[in-house]
Amino acid sequence: MLLSAELNNALNEQVGHEFGASLQYVAIAAYFDRDNLPVLARHFYQQATEERDHAMRFVKFIVDADGNLAIPAIPAPRSQFSSAQEAVQLSLDWERTVTQQINALMDRAIKENNHIARNVLEWFISEQLEEMASMELLLGMVRRAGDAGLLLVESHLAREGLGGPSEGEAENG
Ligand code: FEO
Repeated sequence: MLLSAELNNALNEQVGHEFGASLQYVAIAAYFDRDNLPVLARHFYQQATEERDHAMRFVKFIVDADGNLAIPAIPAPRSQFSSAQEAVQLSLDWERTVTQQINALMDRAIKENNHIARNVLEWFISEQLEEMASMELLLGMVRRAGDAGLLLVESHLAREGLGGPSEGEAENG
């Protein structure tokens, strides 16, 4: 048995959190889409796909480790926002929470001397650093631009290649 019951349960919970993040980012993307901000919308649809991929990485690990996959109920995402800043702030808060969740999983893997789990979780730890940094950057831009300046944020994101995969990246998701 490669997974203790406790670690297996915690991984199942994380599958739920990652699918939850995916749904939340779909809701945020739709909010931007409705507001005629297509680049921000594409950016969040893309984030939603990445979160689904994170969930699937955990699913694969649980299955490969001969654990029991039990996906928990996923809470409904929030769909209404008063501003772009509020939506991006929610995303950053979410990423910070996920970082704590991944850290807690790593603490458990270390405590159990589960080196395979540690190896899998290392990838998520690096990923969280990248996701928090890019979300913080986006929040800074949106905050500075204010509602009236969101089109400038859109042009900047488009120039930087965010908000839409370039050709070749599109297939990798
Ligand atoms: Fe999978 Fe952005 O946390």
